[in-house]
Parts: sequence; structure tokens; C-alpha cells
Amino acid sequence: MKISMWVNGVHRDLEVPPLKRLLDVLREDLDLVGAKEGCGEGECGACAVILDGRLVNSCLLPAYRAHGRVVRTIEGLGTPERPDPVQAAFVAEGAVQCGYCIPGLVMASRALLDDEAGPSRPRIREALAGNLCRCTGYERVVRAVELAARAPQRACGDEPAAGPWSSPQASTGDDVTVHLPTTLREACELLARGGVTVVGGATDLGVLLHEGIVSPAALLDLSRVAEVHGVRREGGALVIGAATPYADLMRDPDVARDLPCLHEAVRTVGAPAIQSLGTLGGNLVNGSPGADAVPPLLALDARVRLVSAAGEREVSADAFFTGYRATVRRDDELVAAVVVPVPAAGTRQSFRKAGTRRAQAIAKVNLAACARIEDGTLREVRLAAGSVGPTVVLLRVAMAILEGGRVADLERLAGAAAAAARDEVTPIDDVRSTERYRREVTGNLVARFVTSLSS
Ligand SMILES: Cc1cc2nc3c(=O)[nH]c(=O)nc-3n(C[C@H](O)[C@H](O)[C@H](O)COP(=O)(O)OP(=O)(O)OC[C@H]3O[C@@H](n4cnc5c(N)ncnc54)[C@H](O)[C@@H]3O)c2cc1C
Ligand code: FES
Ligand code: FES
Repeated sequence: MKISMWVNGVHRDLEVPPLKRLLDVLREDLDLVGAKEGCGEGECGACAVILDGRLVNSCLLPAYRAHGRVVRTIEGLGTPERPDPVQAAFVAEGAVQCGYCIPGLVMASRALLDDEAGPSRPRIREALAGNLCRCTGYERVVRAVELAARAPQRACGDEPAAGPWSSPQASTGDDVTVHLPTTLREACELLARGGVTVVGGATDLGVLLHEGIVSPAALLDLSRVAEVHGVRREGGALVIGAATPYADLMRDPDVARDLPCLHEAVRTVGAPAIQSLGTLGGNLVNGSPGADAVPPLLALDARVRLVSAAGEREVSADAFFTGYRATVRRDDELVAAVVVPVPAAGTRQSFRKAGTRRAQAIAKVNLAACARIEDGTLREVRLAAGSVGPTVVLLRVAMAILEGGRVADLERLAGAAAAAARDEVTPIDDVRSTERYRREVTGNLVARFVTSLSS
């Protein structure tokens, strides 16, 4: 496949297999070896580069996704004579030891400072949470970013804001055909022909493709279909395009104001480089019981909009899942959008995730919760938990205990709902946690939400 991209301000035309990873294109075809391979699965950040202004893990990105885009790597930031302020600060603070992780950490820091001036310590830690370092220790790295933030920033120069090239409609190579439709109708027609795997952000698929766990004959990439991107209002609902990257949802003021439990959940998915690419459509169709963006959709009583060449239908997020990694979606259907009714004013919302660490951790348990207080009475209580059974579930028994309960009785209600929640979930022991821990934490998260309603 022919791809064109701007790399560090230079226009590059290449002939590469469409599924070759951007990391390998940079290292092998362009001799830009700053980006490193650590885990190869999006977990360590050693391969991080900036794509169209956003941090991405180049080990997850198929080359065809870089066509028409602007790529910045560590080589494009500065020279030894004229380093970028971030590079200079890493040296000044002694934040470099073996150096293997440093290109990724520098690119993550650069992406943060391009986005916001003077970030707080917690923001710096959040922005670097997907970058692992085995030898320097993070305190020096955080100090380096603080130092760089105080220095005058350099303009990045001669790159266009976005690629000016038109997209190929389809590309073949590597025994795979990649379809890049630009309209929903076109996408549905391609899907109707069968044998095509849909690609959202490729954060799940990228790992499977690279490891050879899946080897589809054809891919249908949604990244250029405008109808499945963005957030808009339809009546009393927010309609979220299924292929909208999490990073866009995190910045959307309507989502932040009206759907804070979804906003909070999205912030916990992976780390910034995963949020730049990952989507709600992928989270839903992947069907993991530990998916973080899914419990808020059940708690908010959202509907999943499925579109095919034959027409459109909506199913409730609760009815979307039929079993472990199984959904009602037919092979000829796309998840086009998620329709989320905006809750009544004053509805309290919460999302909590218990994981091994703050970033890149699959939930041991997560809980999204919504409730409204009307005349001292709890109304429209909805609780949805993940990682506690084969699918994300509504905690119906606990919800029934709370519905209509009096705020004056919150302490008793919290205890009763927590006990019911512990009983109704069906967790298992696995590598991440135990059945007992998961039951206990589910109850505790429910109790914590209920007692928080008193404030
Ligand atoms: C390092 C790392 C950390 C992660 N951390 C988390 C985490 O903390 N929490 C979490 O929930 N997930 C996490 N994930 C998983 C992943 O990022 C999410 O599930 C993400 O939402 C997947 O979205 P995507 O668009 O990248 O999906 P893709 O990889 O593009 O696709 C996933 C599946 O969905 C299908 N699909 C995608 N979009 C559509 C659509 N619109 N219509 C029909 N089918 C579609 C694809 O065919 C594929 O089967 C992590 C992944 C990685 C690699
Ligand atoms: S090599 Fe670890 S995230 Fe890419
Ligand atoms: S400096 Fe060695 S891994 Fe970070």
C-alpha cells in the first residue's frame, strides 16, 4: 500500500504492507529508531509518538492509519545542540538512566505541554501513567516536566495541521484488504458483503493482529466515516458516535456536564495513548465484562444504535450483551452510536474502578451508579457493575431496595443494598482477583455511593 505522511516536518511517501505497525515503519523504513519496542501491546509507552497532535502507541497502529497524518517522533523534537525544553529538562533533572523508556516519556511530556501550560503534579502523573520506566524512578521525571513547563516552549514548525491527502478507498497487501469508507452507507454496504472485520481505534484489535490471534481477510476501518464521530443532541439525549476516540469524549463539555459517570469512566480507560484511539464501539463489541465505559451506559439507560444496509435498530445497553463476550449485534451491523438520555437535573452520578494500579489496569470491579432525590426520596436508582460476572450487569435487587427509599434512612439502606449486591453478583477467581474480594468490593462501592447521597 502507498502511504504518505509528514514525519518530523518531512513529507514521506512509502510503499508498505497496510498492517505493518507504524513502529516498524519508523524503525525499519525510515531509520527513526528512537521509538522503542517494549511490550508490543500498548502497555509500556516505549513506542509512543505524536500523531496529529495526540500521543499514540506506535506498536498498536497499523501503517495504513498513518496515511495523510502528521507524525512526530523523538528525532523531530530537538538536536543535541538545540534540544526541546522537555529533553533539556530531563537531562538537567537527571531523569535519564538506561534511556530505553525515555523517548516515550519525552513524547508523552511533549504531548501534555502542547495541550496545557503549567500542568499540576497530578495532571503530569496522569499524562505519563502509560509510560513505564524500570530504572530512573518517576519523581525525577515529574520534576523534569515541571521544569520544562516553566521554560519558553518552542513552536513545532513546519508541519501542516492535518494531512492534505485524499484517502485511498481500499488497499491490499499482507493478504488483507483494508476498506476506508467515508460514509456510513458505504461502510454498511461493504459489511453486507461479509467476511469483513470492523476497526474502531484498533486498541484491542492491534494486539490481536500483531500476535496473529486474528488474521482477517478484510478490514473495514471507521476512522474516516464522519457520521460515527462526534457528540450531538437529539431531543433529550446525547448521541455519541461509536468511533469517537475517548480523548474527544473527555474534552466534550456536554459529556462532562450531563454524563459525569461516563466522563469519569472514560478517563480510567488505559492511559492517554489508549484514549487517543479507543472508542465506545470497540468497548461494547469487544464485550469484556471488565469494560470500563460500559457500566455507565447501563446505569444511564443508554441505547446502542445498530446500523446495517437493511436498516437501523436500537437496543438497550443492558440487552446488548447475551453472554461472555457475546452480543446481539449481527455480523452485518455496525455500532453507529450510543444514545444516552440526559438524566433529570440533580441526578447524582458516580463511577468507581478498583484495579491494581491507576492506569492500564483492567478493573477487578467497577461500578457506575445514578440516583435522583425527590422530596427526600430516592428515585430512578440504577447501579451497574463490571468484572463480577460474564457480562456487565445491572444490580437489580439492590436497585429495588433503594428505589423509593427515604434519604433519612440512608445508612440502613446502604447496608441492605450492599448486602444484596454482594449476593446477586456472580464473580469468579481469576488472575486479577478472587470471587470473595469482588463480592466484598461490589458491596462496598454500592454502600459508598448510597451514603454519599446524604451530602
Ligand atoms: C494497554 C491497553 C490498556 C487498556 N485498558 C483498558 C481499560 O482500562 N479499560 C477498558 O475498558 N479497556 C481497556 N483496554 C481495551 C480497549 O482499549 C478498549 O476496549 C477500547 O474501547 C476498544 O476500542 P477500539 O475502538 O480500539 O476497538 P477495536 O480494537 O478497533 O475493536 C474491538 C472490537 O470491536 C469491533 N468494533 C469496533 N468498533 C466497532 C463498531 N463501531 N461497530 C462494530 N464493531 C466494532 C472490532 O471488530 C473488534 O472486534 C485497553 C487496551 C490496551 C491495549
Ligand atoms: S511497545 Fe509497549 S506500548 Fe508499544
Ligand atoms: S531510564 Fe531505563 S527504563 Fe527508564
